[in-house]
Amino acid sequence: MDEVIISGLTKRFDDLTAVDHIELTVPEGSIYGLLGPNGAGKSTTIRLLCTLLRPNEGTAKVGGYDIIESPVQVREITGVLPEEGNHTLYQTMSAYENLEYFGNLYGIPRDELPTRIEELLTFMDLWERKDDPAGELSTGNRQRLALCRALLHRPKILLLDEPTSALDPVAAKRVRELILSLAEKYKQTFFINSHNLAEVQRMCDRIAIIDEGQILLSGATQELRSRLQASQNFRIRVVDDLENTLSISKAMNFVKSAEREADSILVTIDDPLKNNTTLMQALISKGIHIIEFAEEEATLEDLYLDVIKGGVK
Ligand SMILES: Nc1ncnc2c1ncn2[C@@H]1O[C@H](COP(=O)(O)OP(=O)(O)OP(=O)(O)O)[C@@H](O)[C@H]1O
Ligand SMILES: [Mg+2]
Repeated sequence: MDEVIISGLTKRFDDLTAVDHIELTVPEGSIYGLLGPNGAGKSTTIRLLCTLLRPNEGTAKVGGYDIIESPVQVREITGVLPEEGNHTLYQTMSAYENLEYFGNLYGIPRDELPTRIEELLTFMDLWERKDDPAGELSTGNRQRLALCRALLHRPKILLLDEPTSALDPVAAKRVRELILSLAEKYKQTFFINSHNLAEVQRMCDRIAIIDEGQILLSGATQELRSRLQASQNFRIRVVDDLENTLSISKAMNFVKSAEREADSILVTIDDPLKNNTTLMQALISKGIHIIEFAEEEATLEDLYLDVIKGGVK
């Protein structure tokens, strides 16, 4: 079953179309990444899905409920981490009191609430900080507390807007691990906004790329990565002659690009199965001593840049 089905969703702010007739489906249990540069329309999409904004056209079904017809039900089954997640916390109330307050708002039974709060704070490594005012927590801990708040009523679907932005690499990794273990433990569906490719690549099983309000590409992370196989990057290390290696490489018509990087040359080769031996032979025949000719793992970054530049369709 698909947990989020977006059909023709459109949001305009005056002349600006922030979200432009987007179509997306998020399968149950997936961790779906919506990837795009600043101003692409990611946050607007999440605000539409969590019913904070009303679309001008189109609609979406979240967990089977229409965002226009059944906004109350949509709110009940979703947990939201808004763009400035930690601004949704009461800064002078303790971590525990914040969750208690929101737990009461969500109508979680009073006899169950303390157990749930303890479970979540422990899970997020925050139990020892439970009496600290939210405003005095570190950014990473505040973000985790905001995540606890989003998870408190055990929503089926989590809508997270840039959950690791503003976090240092260690804290970001910890939040990623938490999301992955939550997905595994509670079988929740995650819809995550990010402009960080590496993050999406590590965490999400499916991604869509959005720019100027339009979805440029979507699919399974693996599949999208394999689209890059048509051309591939290779790193070449040689004894001494880097400049010669560079000019020989550039002269080949199947070499899409060749760049010098510190002690090696990075080349992008079309149809590599056929052509990389040709390049190797050309280098050897010109007396170049190759130390290494290694395939570089393709990253989504290559794809992303291609897509944003209009290269891949
Ligand atoms: N309430 C609003 N009123 C007017 N314009 C808005 C409003 N909210 C968003 N926009 C505009 O809509 C476009 C999309 O904004 P949105 O916040 O969805 O982008 P984003 O992909 O989340 O970007 P970022 O990575 O910077 O968070 C931007 O041009 C933004 O300026
Ligand atoms: Mg945003």
